[in-house]
Amino acid sequence: MSPSMSLVRSKYAAALVLAPFLLLLGCKDATKEEPAAAAKAEDPAAVHPEIWPSPKWPFAKDAALEEKVATLLDKMTVEEKVGQVIQGDIASMTPEDMKKYHLGSILAGGGSAPGGNERAPASEWLKLADEFYAASIDTSNGGQGIPMIWGIDAMHGHSNIVGAVLFPHNVGLGATHNPKLLGDIARVTAEQVRTTGIEWTFAPTVTVPQDDRWGRAYEGYSEDPGIVASYAGAFVRGLQGDPSSPDFLKGHYVLSSTKHFLADGGTENGRDQGDAKIPETTLRDIHNAGYVPAIEAGVQTVMISFSSWNGKKITGNKGLITDVLKGRMNFDGFTVGDWNAHGQVEGCTNDNCPQALNAGLDMYMAPDSWRGLFDNTLKQVKDGTIPMARLDDAVTRILRVKFRAGIFEAGPPSKRPLAGDFKLLNSPQQRAIARQAVRESLVLLKNNGGLLPLAANKHVLVTGDGADNISKQSGGWTITWQGTGLTNADFPGGTSVWAGVKAAVKAGGGSAELSTDGSYKKKPDVAIVVFGENPYAEFQGDLKVLTLPGSMTQHLEIMKKFQDEKIPVVAVLFSGRPLWQNRELNLANAYVAAWLPGTEGGGISDVLFRKRDGSVDHDFSGKLSYSWPRDAKGEPLNVGQDNYDPLFPLGFGLTYAAPQETAALSEDPGIPAELMSTGSFFDKGTPVAPWSLRVSNGADSTRITTVPAESVGGRVKVTATDDLVQEGARRFVFAGDGKGTVQITSEGAVDLSREANGDVMLLIRLKREGKVPNDLKLGVGCGAGCAGSVPIAGTLDAVPAGKFATVGIPLKCFAKNGADVSKVNESLVLETEGKLDLAFSQVKIGTVADEVHSCN
Ligand code: BGC
Ligand code: BGC
Repeated sequence: MSPSMSLVRSKYAAALVLAPFLLLLGCKDATKEEPAAAAKAEDPAAVHPEIWPSPKWPFAKDAALEEKVATLLDKMTVEEKVGQVIQGDIASMTPEDMKKYHLGSILAGGGSAPGGNERAPASEWLKLADEFYAASIDTSNGGQGIPMIWGIDAMHGHSNIVGAVLFPHNVGLGATHNPKLLGDIARVTAEQVRTTGIEWTFAPTVTVPQDDRWGRAYEGYSEDPGIVASYAGAFVRGLQGDPSSPDFLKGHYVLSSTKHFLADGGTENGRDQGDAKIPETTLRDIHNAGYVPAIEAGVQTVMISFSSWNGKKITGNKGLITDVLKGRMNFDGFTVGDWNAHGQVEGCTNDNCPQALNAGLDMYMAPDSWRGLFDNTLKQVKDGTIPMARLDDAVTRILRVKFRAGIFEAGPPSKRPLAGDFKLLNSPQQRAIARQAVRESLVLLKNNGGLLPLAANKHVLVTGDGADNISKQSGGWTITWQGTGLTNADFPGGTSVWAGVKAAVKAGGGSAELSTDGSYKKKPDVAIVVFGENPYAEFQGDLKVLTLPGSMTQHLEIMKKFQDEKIPVVAVLFSGRPLWQNRELNLANAYVAAWLPGTEGGGISDVLFRKRDGSVDHDFSGKLSYSWPRDAKGEPLNVGQDNYDPLFPLGFGLTYAAPQETAALSEDPGIPAELMSTGSFFDKGTPVAPWSLRVSNGADSTRITTVPAESVGGRVKVTATDDLVQEGARRFVFAGDGKGTVQITSEGAVDLSREANGDVMLLIRLKREGKVPNDLKLGVGCGAGCAGSVPIAGTLDAVPAGKFATVGIPLKCFAKNGADVSKVNESLVLETEGKLDLAFSQVKIGTVADEVHSCN
């Protein structure tokens, strides 16, 4: 057994074996060498490079390469150099822009796609790659024509492309404890990416999440640094190839980016883009674990984190980027920023941040801010704010990577190996690897009475909202950024749990039935109930407490009904992290944590059923790579922590080979009931605590708790109407005799700045009757003098009258019009002097709308 494998047995064991393992990685033992106390007192974000590991970079100095880079650099104008260090997003720049500015790179963010069509066929991606490439090598304005590189989040397969086989998210791969399999997945993902002419993926995420409330926990393999370290090198090698081989980065391989350096998973309360308040030794021993093997595997790029360490944004931390990563740790590739993350550095904005480059960032990710950033950076190089030597170093690092990857000789993307070979997005071999990964990722948490494995000749009901739902199976970073707004039709060739079970029982002589609500035509011998988290990505998935949202209780009702009817239940949870599940565990006879398995749902039925002769092809082998909590509080459960008391420890997982009974669990979640909320402002006709609904005549405001009601003087009348459920909406009729408003307000304020940066919208599910008055404004409020609203009449008139539809207003429109989105205490303000008849049922933050307001 390798040292990393022994780490998974228990957290106590992990703590004991961690020290020697870290030594093995080249780390020093934290207890032996403490940074000088004096320096620590001065600046909590100061580093001591000498206490960090010093991995070996696998490339010797290559004189010929250095010569090529230096010769090219010499010929470049300062404008060209500045262009190289900036990356724009395809949603905010065109090949024409590329021709003019010669940026070093483009990206397609989670919400960006050719022509703005997230369902664009693979051929459109390849075509766009050719167009940007051709523009980048254009020398008609006298430049050097340096080929650009294109980066994308191929997070679990080439996950932006419709039809690609998608693998389990990292949280599931963590449970497989199979680095060899990880290498295979990486290799296949690289092939998928190559078919579309793209040469760079922002993967693997080597975060070591310490708090499951973090909405990106699922992007991490494990809370255990040893497990993360055991995968990182294998994955990077699978993507990039072997650094000593001639096809390194070429042919079937792509550039990799380990991310997000550093401690993205160590922030306080698991807040995305938050602050990791931890000692330098924790930064080194926990969060840096994956970077050491990645550097030894020759990872060519490292993405710098949005987050802070001890109060200071890492994107501006020279000590960490330059002194530790590049200096002490010998990383000789280039660093890339995260999405406008430089704009969060103290004293910076999205289009102005010399601090980041000076700290050691080599390429700014400036999706929509690239043009302003180009102008400002150019100015700052010319006036010496950014030393020319620093710019030259950044460009040198980028060019070195481009030469190493053979980009200069590769020709147009469509002429490179595998380009256009779209069978390689979903070959039978790829499906087989993904299905194996699904099988190995499943963790069996309960199997009372030996309910599993199921006989395939029985009548099986598959039910719950996840039963036939490949989108829910796949989670965030799937076709769309948040993974929302998708149906099974968006996953051609994919298999839901239902489809997998149906095939298994058909082969075994049984029958199967599907429903989402627990109903059935013929009483089943067993019911498989599939439920769990709906897809989310960055910050949208942050939780206050570790539960499914309070409104998601249908599966509990279904399971209770089956218990009364004496139908045995197999529960299958889709989730990006462990959750408080004691009620579900009690109601189910068998319980499987299936994480976010991706498109190959057949991997689940492979393990649930036995053969006719009673034997099984596949026993459960997955073991928890995250500790499972006893309550919903969500406080971190950490290696070596004194009060480490999980329900199921790290490394837990039952098997058929060693059956075990699970006793009934306490159903006290350990948190106040109101915390189990949905995170929206208004749902099914009522404001969600702590928000309240108010109407006013422009002067006096009235809180609405029951209906019918009206503002003082009767100018705005409120009644109930139906949507989603009976009386699930509120209808507002404005008399039109002067100013009237509807507001959703709260005492406290919420910070929506990350959402505004990320193109997230305020979503209102509404219905208008008749025309909307021209002066109708919709906005958010943030205290005296800081509101921002948009004229909304045109957008509302675009939705058909008399029908509920969801209208979305990008939060950045409110910011543009003056709102301080970091302290919103009015999440909705509707205002008009005219006559209006409007109803709404939901107001929330999200990314999927029927009609999107344009703020240009
Ligand atoms: C993009 C994502 C990006 C996010 C940043 C979104 O609009 O599509 O790729 O990660 O913004 O917060
Ligand atoms: C995310 C990164 C991602 C980038 C590009 C950011 O918001 O944090 O993980 O690679 O967007 O989509």
